[in-house]
Amino acid sequence: MNTFDSGSTWGRKRPCRCSTVCLGLLCFVLLAGNIGQVVYYTTQSNYNAMTQEKDRLQNNSDILTVEKDRLQMSYDSLTKENKRLKSEYDDVIQQKERLQTNYDDLAREKDRLQASYDNVTEESGRFQDSYRTLAAERDRLQMSDDSLTKENKQLKSEYDDVIQQKERLQTNYASLAALTTERDQSFARLDNLTKERDQVQAGYNALKQQRERLQASYNIMQQERDVLQADRRTLTASKVQLQTGYNALQRQRDELQARVSYDSLWREKDKLQTNYNTLRREKTQLEGNYTSLATSRDQMQREVDKMKSKIKGKNAKNCDIPGWSKFETSCYYISSFRKNWTVSRQNCMDLGADLVIINSREEQIFVNSLTEAGTNSWLGLTDTITEGQWMWVDGTPVITQYWQPGQPNSYNGNQDCAELVHKSSGEVGEWNDDGCFAEQVWICEK
Ligand SMILES: *[C@@H]1O[C@H](CO)[C@@H](O)[C@H](O)[C@H]1NC(C)=O
Ligand SMILES: *[C@@H]1O[C@H](CO)[C@@H](O)[C@H](O)[C@H]1NC(C)=O
Ligand SMILES: *[C@@H]1O[C@H](CO)[C@@H](O)[C@H](O)[C@H]1NC(C)=O
Ligand SMILES: *[C@@H]1O[C@H](CO)[C@@H](O)[C@H](O)[C@H]1NC(C)=O
Ligand SMILES: *[C@@H]1O[C@H](CO)[C@@H](O)[C@H](O)[C@H]1NC(C)=O
Repeated sequence: MNTFDSGSTWGRKRPCRCSTVCLGLLCFVLLAGNIGQVVYYTTQSNYNAMTQEKDRLQNNSDILTVEKDRLQMSYDSLTKENKRLKSEYDDVIQQKERLQTNYDDLAREKDRLQASYDNVTEESGRFQDSYRTLAAERDRLQMSDDSLTKENKQLKSEYDDVIQQKERLQTNYASLAALTTERDQSFARLDNLTKERDQVQAGYNALKQQRERLQASYNIMQQERDVLQADRRTLTASKVQLQTGYNALQRQRDELQARVSYDSLWREKDKLQTNYNTLRREKTQLEGNYTSLATSRDQMQREVDKMKSKIKGKNAKNCDIPGWSKFETSCYYISSFRKNWTVSRQNCMDLGADLVIINSREEQIFVNSLTEAGTNSWLGLTDTITEGQWMWVDGTPVITQYWQPGQPNSYNGNQDCAELVHKSSGEVGEWNDDGCFAEQVWICEK
């Protein structure tokens, strides 16, 4: 680099030195001119010579100017050359840097290769070791192979022996087969025995459970026995007490027997007792007879009253109103709507009547004839007041009854009103109990 720096200095200084020389020369010439002039002015005589000198100097100046221009031109060319060299120098510098980096890469690569070489060397050492080990192993195996070969020969001879033995055994096996079938039979018997044992086990288990149950019952009984024993003790105590009382009584009885005849008294007492029982039974029967007689008397009384009132109002009662029919001394009406029992009864009352009361088989047949097949009709019969005690709406109990078989059953505990179920065959019709809220047609009687 220093070479190039000094070069550049040299490149610049050379034209400078030249121009300095030229300028020095020029100054010298001018100084000579001035001296000439001074000489001219001083002499005044040599003017023309001076003029000529001046022209000569002028000419010299022109020459110098030309020379200066030439020098300037060569300076410029040198400057250009310098620039070119500078750029070339920069290129070289860059190239040098590239080369430096390449050099570094190569150095690294070298190090890496050196390391792998070391590694490979090491590995080779290891391989060498294992090779040696393997060789030793191979020798060892070679030896064992030899021994195995010997052993093999030995085994071969042994094998032959075994084959002979096997043939002997085969003959033995044939005899064993016979034994095996025998063994199978034994196994079957064993299975039978096992099953039997299981059954016995099951029986045993059942017995065990029974025994436990019995044990429990036994325990309960033991407790009961203890309780009974305690009772027996108390009883024994009271027995002793009673025995003493009895003994006292016996003594008294003996005393009395001495006075009156005890036996005749006893017989009389028995007779009186039987009489008392008979009388009691008769009393109960008579009580029943009285009740039923009272009921029929009341019924008859009412019947008589009804008859009387009917006879009285016979002419006043008008059964000719459309919808009403006459039977014996009453008028009957059957509704064309369906209502519940309460509303039905109210409807009859509004017509000056009440729900029908049936007093005879003839009336039952007549009422049945008023109804149609498949209809149930409300009767004036209910057990609303006392469940199970059916009463007619006029307060009389029921005497003649026409209930359907199995009725009244008070189904669901909510059937307190009676209805007539129409019957085409037999013409009697049957009664059923139904919920008073049910809507049916109804029959009025007045
Ligand atoms: C100047 O010099 C040139 C030759 O270099 C010459 O031809 C010319 O006559 C000279 N002029 C004067 C005035 O000396
Ligand atoms: C040398 O070899 C071992 C295994 O073969 C590897 O793990 C290790 O990185 C290697 N070292 C170099 C520097 O290559
Ligand atoms: C096993 O029992 C069954 C009946 O339970 C009988 O038929 C069979 O012969 C028995 N077998 C033997 C080997 O006793
Ligand atoms: C009471 O009635 C029963 C049958 O109900 C009858 O056998 C008996 O003779 C009657 N008793 C009297 C005293 O009338
Ligand atoms: C019958 O119907 C009337 C009016 O609908 C009602 O007020 C009454 O409670 C009913 N009676 C029965 C027993 O359902």
